[in-house]
Amino acid sequence: MSTVVLIGTQWGDEGKGKVTDFLAEKADVIVRYQGGNNAGHTVVVDDKVYKLHLIPSGILYQDKTCIIGSGVVIDPAVLIRELETLESYGISTVNLKISQRAHVIFPYHKLQDQAEEASKGKNKIGTTCRGIGPAYMDKSARIGIRMIDLIDQDELAVLLERNVEGKNRMLTRVYGSEGVDYKAVLETYRGYADTLKKYVADVPVIVNEAIKQGKNVLFEGAQGTLLDLDYGTYPFVTSSNPTAGAACIGAGIGPTKIDRVLGVAKAYTTRVGEGPFPTELKDEVGAYMRDQGGEFGTTTGRPRRCGWFDGVIGRYAVRINGLDYLAITKLDVLSGLEKVRICTGYKYRGDVLTDFPASLKVLSECAPVYEEMPGWREDITTAGKLEDLPANARKYLERISEVAGVPIALIGVGSKRSQTILTANL
Ligand code: IMP
Repeated sequence: MSTVVLIGTQWGDEGKGKVTDFLAEKADVIVRYQGGNNAGHTVVVDDKVYKLHLIPSGILYQDKTCIIGSGVVIDPAVLIRELETLESYGISTVNLKISQRAHVIFPYHKLQDQAEEASKGKNKIGTTCRGIGPAYMDKSARIGIRMIDLIDQDELAVLLERNVEGKNRMLTRVYGSEGVDYKAVLETYRGYADTLKKYVADVPVIVNEAIKQGKNVLFEGAQGTLLDLDYGTYPFVTSSNPTAGAACIGAGIGPTKIDRVLGVAKAYTTRVGEGPFPTELKDEVGAYMRDQGGEFGTTTGRPRRCGWFDGVIGRYAVRINGLDYLAITKLDVLSGLEKVRICTGYKYRGDVLTDFPASLKVLSECAPVYEEMPGWREDITTAGKLEDLPANARKYLERISEVAGVPIALIGVGSKRSQTILTANL
């Protein structure tokens, strides 16, 4: 396996947690490199359901080093809750390392997120309101507070006082919302620092040393390509880079250290939050996908918008991330549909576009061009190899691979770790 970057190719929620968990078996080190607790991974092992937001799902194996990289923004309260939950299940967290350089989310970030969303009215982004965007804004504005600052009591007091003053001015005067109490936040966060300081480490040293020793390292992205700040459906995106290149920045490694990139895609498409979605189905087929696929957000519980597989997006994700392979998840959700469809291009003012447009105005006018194929009725949740799948399901996968332009390495046919068909040697 050596070094593999695993990313989402759509709008997040592609089932990366399950694929990470599956690949983690072979990995020695698992690194989460961007995003925050806007993400949510559901992993099912031995019928137990684990919901993780910040800690890589590799933690469920007891012998792996799990890392939260510098590109992640951390809400300490959420992280501590996650650590406590894992410990209560008897899962040790001693192998967790948190980057000194990861930025910290404070209560004023969440208030700012909520206030900004409310002020946008019908133009809201539909954020998770977890303070992710404002934390990244502070990082870029060079006023952010990092884990290394959090665990330094004096540094924290100085930086926090400066920030709270400015944030309270903005929250109360611009947005007319409540501010935060400096002393209370300081005390709470000093408590968090006490709990978390044993995990804080120099992550680039650990990761580069592991690579040097020939260990298998898995870099897991959160969200997906179309939520990328630079390459997603801007402005309806998250504030970090879920694409593969960001693994280098977020983990502190050079591009020469990456061997392979694997993109995860659902056998159909989903999206939460606002923004254009060309293959969206507002009919009973979309509802069927939502019901069969349990398409409700792990983090916010919001119903996800559902639609057909979009090959234009598939090709785009292959290009932006330099994908070697696709992993197709939740194929079982499509069982029972008489016909299945794949979008191969967008009809736009008399032309057919085959490349994903940058302009949202253009995208919102695009109508999908579909190829229709016969579906399959069989239950595929016990298929262990490609040959166990119905011929129509295999044809559907072959066509996805052709349209996207990369081979398929893995197929998910159910939520359990065991319900996975491997079709390439990763
Ligand atoms: P934020 O990341 O909370 O700022 O939200 C920005 C956009 O990204 C919104 O449309 C969210 O619904 C979406 N988003 C953020 N995290 C995830 C995720 O893990 N899965 C799917 N959508 C997400």
